[in-house]
Parts: sequence; structure tokens; C-alpha cells
Amino acid sequence: MPQEPVQAAAQPAQQRLPRHVAIIMDGNGRWANKKNLPRYMGHREGVKAVRRVVEACRERGIEALTLFAFSSENWRRPKKEVSLLMDLFVHTLQKEVDRLDRNGVRMRFIGDRSVFDPKLRVLMDAAEKQTAHNDKLTLVIAVNYGGRWDVAEAAKRLASRVVAGELSLDEIDSDALGRELCIADLPEPDLFIRTGGEQRVSNYLLWQLAYTELYFTDLLWPDFNDAAFDEALRSFAGRQRRFGQTGEQVEEQSRRA
Ligand code: FPP
Repeated sequence: MPQEPVQAAAQPAQQRLPRHVAIIMDGNGRWANKKNLPRYMGHREGVKAVRRVVEACRERGIEALTLFAFSSENWRRPKKEVSLLMDLFVHTLQKEVDRLDRNGVRMRFIGDRSVFDPKLRVLMDAAEKQTAHNDKLTLVIAVNYGGRWDVAEAAKRLASRVVAGELSLDEIDSDALGRELCIADLPEPDLFIRTGGEQRVSNYLLWQLAYTELYFTDLLWPDFNDAAFDEALRSFAGRQRRFGQTGEQVEEQSRRA
């Protein structure tokens, strides 16, 4: 049984803050279209919203924030847009890492980065190394990430340990597989936010979202601000997380806490 989420469910509502928030930042292109700007300008404006939400998490004492910056399916976009997005990642890393480091943010990247330009890979490795000691907020950026890829990689790692004789088939269960996934060392996301009006998970953290509270907003990502984030946090705080238990059991635990 998942230990930590059950404890979180027993907290009084006013203290119920997610430990880990996962976001799909959707709507950059539409934001730009509405303003007759090229789509790229929407992504650039999206970076400002990233800055805001990182700061908001830090101020509110949220431990981890995972952002979907580029999915394994995003390669299907026009070549020009993909290339501009890559340039934006490089530029943003060059510009932001020192500031994030000074603010106590630990950076992590998840996804298959082997396909990226070496320059971007070097920047990602360096950002992780530079900020590894920080403990105010863990900022996870998912790049060329897919939830199915994550599960398949975990299965492959377990299989290779079986082949090597280090693990028996009987030892493979959901805990063993969960431990092999990306960000297994972080609490599972408590709150998932998707902007841009679509209501789907789009191959994001499929395993890790099993008990996550889902929150959708029509706001386009560049318009997502502190007030919108606080609205999502309020919605989360008002929910009863049952993890398969009855409402009465959860209320009883809450009274005893
Ligand atoms: C989805 O909007 C957004 C993306 C695929 C890219 C998100 C990237 C950023 C906000 C830059 C972040 C940078 C770092 C370093 C974290 P969309 O283009 O699908 O919008 P649409 O649905 O309106 O077309």
C-alpha cells in the first residue's frame, strides 16, 4: 500500500499542499496564433510562465515540480518548430541555470536524451551537476520523454538483471518495477495540471500518475500565472484522496492525525 500518499490524505485540508506537482504546459501555439505571432513566440512566452511556476513552487514549499517540455511524439512537429524549440532549450539553460542554482533549485532531466544535439546534452549534464546539492525544490524537465518508454526501459532493466542471474522472476512485482522508473526517488505526483483545455494525459508519467489528482484548465500556458496556480492548489486541497479506502476511513484517519 502506498505509505506516503495515505499520510498526505490524513492532513487537515488547509495544510494539504501537494509535495509534487506535474504539469503539461499546453497552449503555447494557440496563444501565439491568437496574437498573430509565430508559434515560436508562444514557446518563448511559455518560458516566462515556467519561471513563474518554479518560483511559486519554491515560495509555497512544494518539494518537486515536473514539467513536460518535449514529448517523444513532439518530433512529429514541423522541422522548423522542433529546431526553434531546441534553440530555446539551449538558450534557456544557458541563461537560467545560475539563477536556479542560487535559488536552491535542483535540476533533473528525464527522457531519452541520447538523440539530442551534443551541445544540449552537455548543458543538461552540467545543469544537473551544478545544482545536485540544492534542496529547496527539485525541478524535473521531461524531454523526449514518454510514459510508455519509461515503463519499457524499467522492464528492460529488470529483464537484464534476471538474465544476469541477479534477480528471480518471483521478485518482479509492481514495487520492483516502480523502483526502476524515472524519478522513483521522488514522491509520486500528488497533483497533475494540464493547461490549454485538452483533458488527457498524453503519455506523461503513466505509471506515476496512478493516484494523482487531475486538474485541467482552459488557460493557455503563457497565461498561467500565480493566481491560476493557487486555484489549482485550492482545488487539490479540497479533494479527499482515498487510495482505494472508503471516505469514512480517510475521515477517521484525519481525526486521529
Ligand atoms: C505545448 O504547446 C508546448 C510545448 C510542446 C513546448 C513547451 C516548452 C516550453 C514552454 C519551453 C520550456 C523550456 C524549458 C527549458 C523548460 P503547443 O505548442 O502544443 O500549443 P498548442 O496546443 O496551442 O499548439
